[in-house]
Amino acid sequence: MLQARQLGNSDVKVTPIIFGAWAIGGWMWGGTDDQDALDALHVSIDHGVTTIDTAAVYGFGHSEELVGQAIKGQRDKVVIATKCGNRWDGPPGKDTKDVQIHRNSKPEGIIWECEQSLKRLGVDVIDIFQIHRQDVETPVEDSMRAMEKLRQQGKIKAIGVSNFSLDWIQRAQAAAPLACNQPPYSAVQRGIEKEVLPYCRQRNIATIGYSPLERGLLTGSVGPDRKFPESDHRSKHRFFTQESRQRIADALAVVKPIADAHEASLAQMMIQWTINQPGITAALVGARNAQQAEHNAKALEFSFSAEEFAKIREAFDECARVMSR
Ligand SMILES: NC(=O)c1ccc[n+]([C@@H]2O[C@H](COP(=O)([O-])OP(=O)(O)OC[C@H]3O[C@@H](n4cnc5c(N)ncnc54)[C@H](OP(=O)(O)O)[C@@H]3O)[C@@H](O)[C@H]2O)c1
Repeated sequence: MLQARQLGNSDVKVTPIIFGAWAIGGWMWGGTDDQDALDALHVSIDHGVTTIDTAAVYGFGHSEELVGQAIKGQRDKVVIATKCGNRWDGPPGKDTKDVQIHRNSKPEGIIWECEQSLKRLGVDVIDIFQIHRQDVETPVEDSMRAMEKLRQQGKIKAIGVSNFSLDWIQRAQAAAPLACNQPPYSAVQRGIEKEVLPYCRQRNIATIGYSPLERGLLTGSVGPDRKFPESDHRSKHRFFTQESRQRIADALAVVKPIADAHEASLAQMMIQWTINQPGITAALVGARNAQQAEHNAKALEFSFSAEEFAKIREAFDECARVMSR
């Protein structure tokens, strides 16, 4: 059984492994198979991964709809986190990538998005509502007041932010109760360790780190020959160049004997490593099918030592130096 952990100063508790529902939305991941996605969600919940993280923008509502379908009849068992502020409809804010995504964390936008997410998820209350990214055109204090209004109204239980810099976290926290931060965090992406993570620990803001498997790279399933379709963001991502794959492969070769000694997979070991780093409340792990979901849900069934965790960290030092942000 996965022991739930308190989410910062809020009343919400989350599982240390959280199911990440980005890939099952299909967008940026080369499409999705709805049945595989539903199976992955069901298997995760059945294996104790009862916290699920999604976002309105994942598949443009599709991921939230799938999560809504999967939790029907078992709402009381699950904790649902979703995100707002990345809009694919009007009104336009600041353009981000090649697709028409706009950052918009204006108060009226947040209130409207919350209603849309509640409908798609088929729930009365969202357990954790997070601002997906910094919207530099909207004072974060205004966005946080809208989040707090939703909390007071009982539409959300806890407020979170994601991809925020330290000064934005500080401003957000001064404006309303901030329960959690969702930054990238893995053995090769440790950028938050310098300032953001210590600050959050000190202020009792939970850190739920995303992409602990570095989008599959740390599982050993991305060898030199693996090709991704154009519509999978990994086909263009700088972490997936041949040079980067080789650097990761070299580090994986160093740590594989540690996984083997416990009869764990690389994926399971790297998930556990992430969750065991000081100050990390939970790791958000993506899975595209039931097999991956079950496998990942069992990642805490092994007992690695502090010494082994330190060796893993050291093995990825060079990767982290090159890749961290
Ligand atoms: N707030 C944000 O801006 C933000 C950004 C990114 C992610 N997130 C959150 O964090 C979650 C997880 O991040 P992520 O999906 O980017 O990356 P991840 O968890 O590091 O990697 C997930 C991917 O790795 C592969 N995989 C998973 N389990 C595996 C296993 N046991 N064996 C082999 N391959 C396996 C799957 O892709 P393939 O099978 O296709 O290789 C899967 O889609 C997201 O779903 C989302 O909830 C948030």
